[in-house]
Amino acid sequence: MPATAAAARRRPGKSLHVIKFGGELLDEPRRRRQMARAVCAAAARQRVVVVHGGGREVDAELARFGIPKRTVDGVRITDAATLDVVLGVLAGRVNTRLVAAIGAAGGSAVGLTGVDAGLATVSAARRYRATDGTHVDLGFVGLPKRTGGRPELLLDLTQAGHVPVVASIGTDGRGRLFNVNADTLAADLAARLGADRLTVAGTTPGVLDETGATIPAVDDDRLERLIRDGQASAGMIAKLLACRAAGGGGVAEVRILDGRRSGALDDPGQAEATRVTARRQRRRNGR
Ligand SMILES: Nc1ncnc2c1ncn2[C@@H]1O[C@H](COP(=O)(O)OP(=O)(O)OP(=O)(O)O)[C@@H](O)[C@H]1O
Ligand SMILES: [Mg+2]
Repeated sequence: MPATAAAARRRPGKSLHVIKFGGELLDEPRRRRQMARAVCAAAARQRVVVVHGGGREVDAELARFGIPKRTVDGVRITDAATLDVVLGVLAGRVNTRLVAAIGAAGGSAVGLTGVDAGLATVSAARRYRATDGTHVDLGFVGLPKRTGGRPELLLDLTQAGHVPVVASIGTDGRGRLFNVNADTLAADLAARLGADRLTVAGTTPGVLDETGATIPAVDDDRLERLIRDGQASAGMIAKLLACRAAGGGGVAEVRILDGRRSGALDDPGQAEATRVTARRQRRRNGR
């Protein structure tokens, strides 16, 4: 076991860092190994909780079954057949492979979904008012309940030197399962954990402006404009709304960055990134 990982097990730091990985960072083995090493480096200095999506792999599996992909504002419209695919891909392949990769990089990861110990207790999103004003039935999409308690299990695991790796599936407490947008879940957990930092790692160096340049900081007004003007679209809408919810929930440092840039996860302050300082909570569809 590398010295850094051993140190992390002995002395988990106080600072808590929630890292969300977009699926694109995890589907290729070499890239996954890079992310796993970055998680171990971060876990040597802070307590780390990982949340992951798996959008691309879900898309590929849907195509294999001939199930059409439908999204609105970056959220996947989830019928029963799509939910089955999401469960199999996220809780099965993507999660288990990442847990194994972190283990191989010298860390100790524990794979979970939001269903474990009620980490993600959700309500059905149902009728969703999209940013373009239309109403859409999202099907089996869950929105974290605001009454969700402190995720003690994750705190216990980090305290014991493990890295929890959470697949973005939730339950309504009555045994029904829901697809939860991974950014939304990461933000919700970060706020409920009292995390110091949320890093949303994807494959763009933050939120890009119309020239393709990284926007260094996004406050409430800029966030509204990015969405209204269509500069942020698809998955970036869900990401920005989630980051705002984390900020409003008390997470001091919220960043969107490219997980492939070396050192970005270990020391996000040094990386090219968008810092989301938006805090204003406007209830829209429960988000
Ligand atoms: N202004 C913008 N700046 C950067 N990316 C943007 C912007 N507007 C839209 N996007 C899109 O948002 C995507 C990121 O969201 P997406 O949901 O596809 O990935 P993810 O959330 O990282 O992965 P997953 O859904 O698997 O968790 C980018 O790859 C890009 O195509
Ligand atoms: Mg996404």
